[in-house]
Amino acid sequence: MIKILFVCLGNICRSPTAEGIFRHKLNQAGIKDGYLENIFLDSAGTGAYHVGKNPDPRSCDIARKYGVNLEDLRARRLTRQDFSDYDYILGMDQENINHMKDMCPPMHQHKINLFMTYAENCPGITEVPDPYTGGLDGFEQVYDIIDRGSSGLLKHLYVNDLLPNKMNFPGKT
Ligand code: 4NP
Repeated sequence: MIKILFVCLGNICRSPTAEGIFRHKLNQAGIKDGYLENIFLDSAGTGAYHVGKNPDPRSCDIARKYGVNLEDLRARRLTRQDFSDYDYILGMDQENINHMKDMCPPMHQHKINLFMTYAENCPGITEVPDPYTGGLDGFEQVYDIIDRGSSGLLKHLYVNDLLPNKMNFPGKT
């Protein structure tokens, strides 16, 4: 079982979008995630402001346009237990990374990375910017950036033989 945790500040915009898009890409590749599957996804926030809430309606609306459903997700706060439970702990921006590195025991520090580390063809985009206080165009940009990051992460797992089922992987020869 491989476990991936997407992390941002509030867990209502960027990290649930990453969880939803990545789940959608997995499903398109014929791979299911969940407790009883070989891959498990979740998202969390370093802050507790929105615990228990659904994702921001602006994130939900944009995701729905692309066939990705975020409505059923619920915000939760990152815990110390997450550092031992997850294999990949992916922060949306450097502030998220700094926060996690301060919390995380030395033995699990290597699991923490910027989500965009795995993106290809995104020169100069190393972080997913916080869209919360901005306009809808910022949410559109964030969606596009996360979509590219998710494709890169999927490819990373594929080339490292970490996907449970590669039958329908896009581009497989
Ligand atoms: P997120 O966006 O970290 O992408 O979920 C934010 C959501 C809420 C707040 C900040 C960022 N806030 O300050 O309430």
